[in-house]
Amino acid sequence: MKVKVKGSIRDLLAFKGLVPKRRKRILKSPDTPLVADAVGELSRVLHPRVQHLVITGVKNETPSAKTFRLEPHRQDGTTRLAPFRAGQYVSIRTEVGGVRITRPYTISSSPHEKDFYEITLRRTEGGFLTGHAWEHWREGTKLDASGPEGTFFHEPLRDTPEILGLAGGSGVTPFRSMIKDIALGGAQLRLTLLYGIKCPDDIIFGHELREFADRFPEKIRVHYVCSEPDSSWEGPTGFLSAACIRDLAGDLAGKTVFVCGPPQMYRFLREELKAFNLRPKQIRWEAEGEASDIERHPGFPADAVGKSFRLTVAMGGKTVELPALSGESLLVAMERANLAPPSRCRSGECGFCRSRIVSGEVFVRPESDGRRAADRMYGHIHPCSSYPVSDVEIAVPRDP
Ligand code: FES
Repeated sequence: MKVKVKGSIRDLLAFKGLVPKRRKRILKSPDTPLVADAVGELSRVLHPRVQHLVITGVKNETPSAKTFRLEPHRQDGTTRLAPFRAGQYVSIRTEVGGVRITRPYTISSSPHEKDFYEITLRRTEGGFLTGHAWEHWREGTKLDASGPEGTFFHEPLRDTPEILGLAGGSGVTPFRSMIKDIALGGAQLRLTLLYGIKCPDDIIFGHELREFADRFPEKIRVHYVCSEPDSSWEGPTGFLSAACIRDLAGDLAGKTVFVCGPPQMYRFLREELKAFNLRPKQIRWEAEGEASDIERHPGFPADAVGKSFRLTVAMGGKTVELPALSGESLLVAMERANLAPPSRCRSGECGFCRSRIVSGEVFVRPESDGRRAADRMYGHIHPCSSYPVSDVEIAVPRDP
């Protein structure tokens, strides 16, 4: 077959010189990018790997709750704080008794207070970090934190403009941030907050929330519901039952319900909210945190209760063996051995601790199984929500 190519000889010569010319140009070009990496820069601002912070203020909220104000520690390289949505958390990374751990804490300040974050801790009996924080955290203490994380925030594309907040204990912290966002930042929301407390002394941010409710009555309503009132209590009493919710917040049709509180409150509300026939996406549950009584879960294998198993961990090119108790997550077992595995939410949701199970069996309670279907199928687990029920071997990525 004959092929005729039309064109001048000059075209052919130009083509011949194309590759060497391009090579010359490449050699002459600077090593640095010609345009700034705008996307990369924005992503570093929005999602910093670590934020170096320093405590600049401590406020006693109640006999058992304190608010810590955190500002950037400029000398350590953090010049500004990552922005956040009201309801998000930061994962604080610190050392307690020589053991490196993380804990997620909701940012209780407003997204419009850009120079600081506030986190509010409630001291719990035997609380591993809170005991340490009460003893050692003061003005000048340095802490490292992740960027803001979590999905427990109002998203206008998904949620209704009228929301009901159901809070218990220190679960009021995201609602303080949301209320401040409405009051100070003009978020276009109407929020009714029902805050369940055991006794009047337990109310965190009591005066502040009342003040906002008084100033913006058309947007913010706050009710405290006390389960063990004293003689001076004049507000509603009991628990956040369906009847109480209906009484104080009315019908829930056309509202999104946000829930944040202790595990027992979640168990109670899962039943009570059934009375309203809400669609699942109408209820937003904040991550529940680690289960403290996993062995009492109805699905937990009875023959594994109270046992200690062998956990083999391959991480960062090393393999170590350590004991793992059936009642503690694999994440806690690794932290106990000071392996500093990656973690953020500690609730099975964010996937930051995602690891591969090589052998053995773990129990994951369905309520905190945030894995994708493919991960479940192909043997990936979230150690923060996985409990050993046999000897287990896992491969864990290093904290990036
Ligand atoms: S730390 Fe978030 S899923 Fe484990």
